[in-house]
Amino acid sequence: MAVRDIVLYPNDVLSTPAKDVDKVDDDVQQLVQDLADTMYDAPGVGLAAPQIGVLKRVTVIDISKPDEENNLLVLINPQIVERSGKITWEEGCLSFPGLYEKIDRARQVKVRALNVEGEVFEVEGEELLAVAMQHEIDHLDGVLFTDRMSQLKKRRAMKKYKKILDRREEAAEDEDE
Ligand code: NI
Repeated sequence: MAVRDIVLYPNDVLSTPAKDVDKVDDDVQQLVQDLADTMYDAPGVGLAAPQIGVLKRVTVIDISKPDEENNLLVLINPQIVERSGKITWEEGCLSFPGLYEKIDRARQVKVRALNVEGEVFEVEGEELLAVAMQHEIDHLDGVLFTDRMSQLKKRRAMKKYKKILDRREEAAEDEDE
């Protein structure tokens, strides 16, 4: 069990494109385990390697509900090969704690990736799973959900997020006293 620190916005690592994994070796499997541990601890429905400071194209997703068994989806070097429809979903991001905003995405996507055994597989998802896969694959490209907003909406969201961060800092200072 290795819960890693989650990188918060603003941090350059979050806007840097990650590199493809050459070989799914022990290091990559350890990275997958750390990502899963960190995501479940947070808790969140998805986490990408850049969010723990590792610029590799690896992400984990689990959209199961709290009362359901875990259902971990591991995507290594994922690529969206098909997309269709449109959906607007209220998204959050573990790198923007407390910020939730509506984002337009494709309703359905098909993704091709490697699994933890290094084998190619495809996964199709719609609605929440499709949104989560698009959000996490964006992270691997250095794209954040705020980059998917109009300029006006992004400015408002950034103001809101700055207030959230200020409150977190105040709360942390109060704890120190
Ligand atoms: Ni995110």
